[in-house]
Amino acid sequence: MDKAAPLTIALPKGRLQKPVVDLLEQIGIDCSELREPSRKLIIPVPGTEWRFLLAKPADVPTYVEYGAADLGVVGKDILLESHKDVAELLDLGFGFCRLIVAVPETSGIKDVQDLDFNSRVATKFPRITTEFFSSQGIQAEVVHLNGSVELGPIVGLADAIVDITETGTTLVENGLIPIAEIAQITSRLIANRVSCKVKYQTIQGLVRRLREVLAKPVD
Ligand code: PRP
Repeated sequence: MDKAAPLTIALPKGRLQKPVVDLLEQIGIDCSELREPSRKLIIPVPGTEWRFLLAKPADVPTYVEYGAADLGVVGKDILLESHKDVAELLDLGFGFCRLIVAVPETSGIKDVQDLDFNSRVATKFPRITTEFFSSQGIQAEVVHLNGSVELGPIVGLADAIVDITETGTTLVENGLIPIAEIAQITSRLIANRVSCKVKYQTIQGLVRRLREVLAKPVD
């Protein structure tokens, strides 16, 4: 691997961190310090001029757009919502989930077209939600929450939610059913547009290695 160009890679803290580290180790990057419990937010890669930043997932596109990180790993949901000017280099395949519209099972609603005029929709993804309902010709009031979105319909804050679902457990345990799928989501490798030019060889080499590993059949 070309270790010449210094590289900063923003990684998302939380549920994507382990699969990212697994993947990076498969292409020979020493991630041992990332596996240790720690509160450090900048982790150097031994034997290289590379380093990782550990960021909130929603902030990864911001670090990359401003060039504070050359590369980043982020879910497509966050990428769609953030509208940041970054280059999307690779679908990493892991972190699969679905972005859906869900309603209380007891509502009897089976389709988004059945939602009342000006229904309230709670979500962590206000931009995507506004665009989706607009594309469906449905007038909806979007209520922005930062998490535990499934609470919205239970406490009368919203008639529906737009959220990601992975196993479906959170929906079921809160009496919600999906009525529409907006997008299928996986993790993406993104890059700062200037870094793509000035660190072309290094980034290209990394992408090539990742492609090779991702193309291998799973044992
Ligand atoms: C996400 C998402 C759902 C839940 C879905 O929330 O917003 O609430 O996971 O997962 P499941 O289908 O496997 O049950 P997260 O855990 O990120 O927490 P948050 O609600 O506080 O954002």
